[in-house]
Amino acid sequence: MLRICVCVSGGGTNLQAVMDAIDTGKITNAQIVRVISNNRGAYALERAKSRGIDAAAVSPKDYEDRECFNEALLACVDGAEPDLVVLAGFLVVLPPMMIKKYEGRIINIHPSLIPSFCGKGFYGLKVHEAVLARGVKITGATVHFVDEGTDTGPIILQKAVEVLPDDTPRVLQQRVMEQAEWVILPQAIHIIANGLL
Ligand code: GAR
Repeated sequence: MLRICVCVSGGGTNLQAVMDAIDTGKITNAQIVRVISNNRGAYALERAKSRGIDAAAVSPKDYEDRECFNEALLACVDGAEPDLVVLAGFLVVLPPMMIKKYEGRIINIHPSLIPSFCGKGFYGLKVHEAVLARGVKITGATVHFVDEGTDTGPIILQKAVEVLPDDTPRVLQQRVMEQAEWVILPQAIHIIANGLL
């Protein structure tokens, strides 16, 4: 059974998709053992608690400097003894120590077709604003392994989504989530959990 630690910053709809996929058997051979947020008020923590999953907040505000926060975050991840760390909308730069320790065992969901609209400054709604500003007709989402760069690790799965003429960033974000993110993140976890990669 693959032990998963999910890191989240906000609403946690991707976390929800993973929990639902485990419940319905779309993901087999995996369990979420801990959900961690850098944001005490993240709704994602409530989603975890309501499923009886261990939920922890590790906020930079509670530590005197970045080093102390990084150590606390890594300790919290280590404490879950995960086989896989899933970044599901985790808007924190990971401690380099953590990337090294969990090399090949951290995956991230990004709301665009990497290498477009990714890297520093491209997260959340900003990605979809940039997509609309550029006028591309196709966007999507990507699940990839995390390395030392920003959105540079090996790609596991991608799914394309159409951009429509009247899209606003929020409308497009919702479509990318529904048609791509909530589909390929559970798929990627299932593939890893069952040794199919
Ligand atoms: C998702 O769209 C995810 O792809 C994005 O944050 C959102 C979190 O939503 N992640 C990034 O932009 C990472 N660069 P959620 O909390 O509802 O899952």
